Amino acid sequence: MRYVGYHKPTREEIRAILEKEGTQEICLVASPAGNEREIVAQIRCILLNPPTDAELAIVVHDDWQNQGLGTALVQAIVRWAIQAGVERIVGVMGLSNDRMIHVFNKLGFATRDSEYDTLKMARLLPSARTKQKSQQA
Ligand SMILES: CC(C)(COP(=O)(O)OP(=O)(O)OC[C@H]1O[C@@H](n2cnc3c(N)ncnc32)[C@H](O)[C@@H]1OP(=O)(O)O)[C@@H](O)C(=O)NCCC(=O)NCCS
Repeated sequence: MRYVGYHKPTREEIRAILEKEGTQEICLVASPAGNEREIVAQIRCILLNPPTDAELAIVVHDDWQNQGLGTALVQAIVRWAIQAGVERIVGVMGLSNDRMIHVFNKLGFATRDSEYDTLKMARLLPSARTKQKSQQA
């Protein structure tokens, strides 16, 4: 699950994405104030091996990058994942995607793996620590 570009979604695509909310997948979108019909950023998160792992993918329209949207959307998804009891959240990006790597580093993600031209970064969430403690007790 990786975004490689921006495309204007159709109504059907938006409906299909939003109808999955609350199941195994969540999607958040951002619109300019006063223009909710325009979507300028989207983040999706899918539960893998539910509910222990989740993977996110994000895209911000070129004209809206570097204004804090990516950071805010990743933070929102992390909050959702914590509520959902997810233990580890991961993102996969190109090795040269310095901006995404910077945002993930800033939000506490660490490099887990690199393969060919991709990098996987992950952040452990509080549920994982609670589980570790209860296993040690
Ligand atoms: C990666 C992406 C989601 C980031 O979203 P964004 O809204 O631009 O991110 P933000 O504005 O919140 O933060 C950008 C940060 O990167 C920094 N940055 C910008 N260019 C950079 C670069 N070349 N190298 C390192 N850091 C960079 C900015 O200074 C800012 O850091 P700061 O908040 O500490 O000042 C967006 O650029 C994007 O959609 N890229 C294309 C799709 C993609 O690569 N998705 C990732 C696959 S999961």
